[in-house]
Amino acid sequence: MVRMSARETASGLRAVARCDDLGVAPYSDADDHLFRPYLGAGHAATLDRIAAWMTEAGMTARVDAAGNIVGRYEGRHSDAPVLLIGSHVDSVRDGGRYDGMLGVMLGIETVAWFAERGHRFPFAIEVIGFGDEEGSRFPVSMLTSRAVAGVLGDQDLALADAAGVGLAEALDGFGLELARFAGAARHREDVLAYVEAHIEQGPVLEAEGHALGVVSAIAAQYRFRAVVTGVAGHAGTMAMRLRRDALAAAAEMVLAVERIGGAGPEDLVATVGRMEVGPGVPNVVPGAVTFSIDVRAGVGAVRDRAADEIRVALADIAARRTVGLDLTLQQDLPATPCDSGLSRLMAEAVRDVTGAEPRVLVSGAGHDAMVMARLAPVAMLFLRCRGGVSHHPAEAVEVDDAQTALEAMTAFVTRFEHTWSDAGPALTEEER
Ligand code: GLV
Ligand code: MN
Ligand code: MN
Repeated sequence: MVRMSARETASGLRAVARCDDLGVAPYSDADDHLFRPYLGAGHAATLDRIAAWMTEAGMTARVDAAGNIVGRYEGRHSDAPVLLIGSHVDSVRDGGRYDGMLGVMLGIETVAWFAERGHRFPFAIEVIGFGDEEGSRFPVSMLTSRAVAGVLGDQDLALADAAGVGLAEALDGFGLELARFAGAARHREDVLAYVEAHIEQGPVLEAEGHALGVVSAIAAQYRFRAVVTGVAGHAGTMAMRLRRDALAAAAEMVLAVERIGGAGPEDLVATVGRMEVGPGVPNVVPGAVTFSIDVRAGVGAVRDRAADEIRVALADIAARRTVGLDLTLQQDLPATPCDSGLSRLMAEAVRDVTGAEPRVLVSGAGHDAMVMARLAPVAMLFLRCRGGVSHHPAEAVEVDDAQTALEAMTAFVTRFEHTWSDAGPALTEEER
C-alpha cells in the first residue's frame, strides 16, 4: 500500500495511493476483498470520495444520469467542447485495485497538474469514471459508457441482476431514474476525443521492459448465456444410466469451450467464468445449469468462427446427453481500432517522456474506449503491471510507472492542444 503526505501535488504516487484507499470497505461491498459492482454501496461511497478529489483538483463534479462521476475543468470559454479522459470505477469480484480506477485517478492528476500551473485550454477537460464496465452486476458489460455514447439497446433497460433486482430499482436506490438513463448520452459535436489510461492486464510491457504502451486496437468480444436443462432427481436412487445430469453435460461443454478457444491463434480466448447449478444440493442430481461464455479475438472473424464451433459442439453434447440447451448472445462488442491520429499523438507523448520508441499493442481486455469509439476518436495508454496479473487481488503497479504515465498524459494533452485551434482540431478528417 502506497502512502502519501497531505501536501502531495499532482503525481503518479497520489494516483496509486488513492486507488489503494479505494480498495477496501466502505468503497468495496465486501469486507475481505474488493468488490465494487455498479450502483452498490461501495460505488456510492467511491463517488463521494472521487467528487471531493475532483473538486480539489479544480473541477466541478457531478453524477450523470447513468451513475458516472464526471469532473469538468472549464476551458477558456464556458461552452467549449470537451476532451474526455476516463476509465471505470467498478471492479470484478475479488478484483485488483488499479483496473479502471488508476485511469480515473490519472485523469484527475492530469487536470490537477495543469490546474496547479494555472493553465486553461481552448477546450474543457472532463474526467469520467464509468460506473459499469465489468458487467459485475448485470449480465452485460459497459452499460454506462454505452449510455454516454448513446448506443444502448432496448433490452438494456430491462436488465435484472442475479438477485432479481432490476436496473430501474437499482438506479432508484442510487437516486437515479430509469426514464432518464439514456439521457446520459453526449452530443457528438461536444466531444472532441476520449482518452483512457489503463493497466495492461497482460505481460507484454513488463517482459519487454517498457513502462508504457500505446493501444492500436481492442479485441472483439462475445458474451453468451448457456442454460442446460436436464432432469433433477434423488442422488441415491436415480440409476446412472437413467440420468440426464445438467451439470455433467455442462462440464463437457466447458471443456469444449476450452478446447476451441485453445485451437486458434494466440489472441483467441474462450472462458466460462460463471456457473449456477440448480438446485445446487449435494444429494440431488443437477437439473439445470446456467453458465457464461466469453469469447474474444483481435480479429472479429476469428472470434465469430470460434463462436460458431462452440455452438455446434455444445448442441452435439446436448443431443448426445438428451439435455436441453438454450444459448443466448448477450453482448457483441466488435473489434475496435483506436484513432490513428490520436494514437500517433499518444505515441509521441510516450516518446517525449521515456525517450524510447513506444510499444504498440492490441488489448485483449475490453475497455470503455471500445464503446466510446462510437461517439468520438479514442486513444489508449497502457501501463505495465506486475506479472501481467489482473482481475485478481495481487494486481500491482510501480509508482514510478504511474508517474511516467501521468507525464505521458500531460504531454499528450499538451500535444492535443497544439493540434487544436479555435477553428477546430488540426487532425485530418481521415485521422478523426
Ligand atoms: C473487462 O475487464 C473485460 O475485459 O472483460
Ligand atoms: Mn476489468
Ligand atoms: Mn478495466
